[in-house]
Amino acid sequence: MKGIVFTEFLDLVEQKFGLETVQQIIDQSDLESNGVYTSVGTYKFTEMVSLLTNLSDITKIAPNDLLKVYGTHFFKALADNYGSILNTYKSPLELLASVDEHIHVEVRKLYPDAELPRFEITEQKDNKLTMIYYSSRALYAFAHGLMEKSFEHYNQDSEISYKLLEEDGTVVQFEITKK
Ligand code: HEM
Repeated sequence: MKGIVFTEFLDLVEQKFGLETVQQIIDQSDLESNGVYTSVGTYKFTEMVSLLTNLSDITKIAPNDLLKVYGTHFFKALADNYGSILNTYKSPLELLASVDEHIHVEVRKLYPDAELPRFEITEQKDNKLTMIYYSSRALYAFAHGLMEKSFEHYNQDSEISYKLLEEDGTVVQFEITKK
């Protein structure tokens, strides 16, 4: 998992819960990196699971609720760091329909070791997109947050629902409607 995912996560934890909580979750997790991340480095996904689980234990907020908020926060980091990619899209639905075939393809060129999900579009209309999320990491709540923030970025309203096609969250269908 790329370092930017960790640095932005710890930034958000600091903003919402304070530096002490950042230190606490790092201390409670058994981290090969010792909790030192650079945005271009690559670290084990299990470190993120550990940090998230400990944050959930401390805050009593479910991991998926934390991940969804983290998705909205991460969108801002994408807009700041990859504005040139984001700005090529004129609407949130166009953006979301392009994640798999364009955006993440560019990301993979920049970082060949990136661990990216796959999105399969099963229905595409002017105001609606249905796509299936596939990832062994089951970060669908993170995806949900990114989707919601995509609409806010363009000052549009959305209605997003999802259905787990695999119980463990590794295959999830999203129905995304522009309101
Ligand atoms: C400019 C736009 C975008 C850029 C540059 C970008 C880049 C990235 C990067 C660097 C990662 C981390 C890969 C790793 O840790 O190895 C990632 C992961 C991810 N991205 Fe994107 N992304 C963009 C837009 C989006 C959007 C709009 C979505 C909305 C659905 C999305 C969904 C995800 C998900 C769900 C992951 C987590 C990995 C997983 O689920 O397996 N991305 N992306």
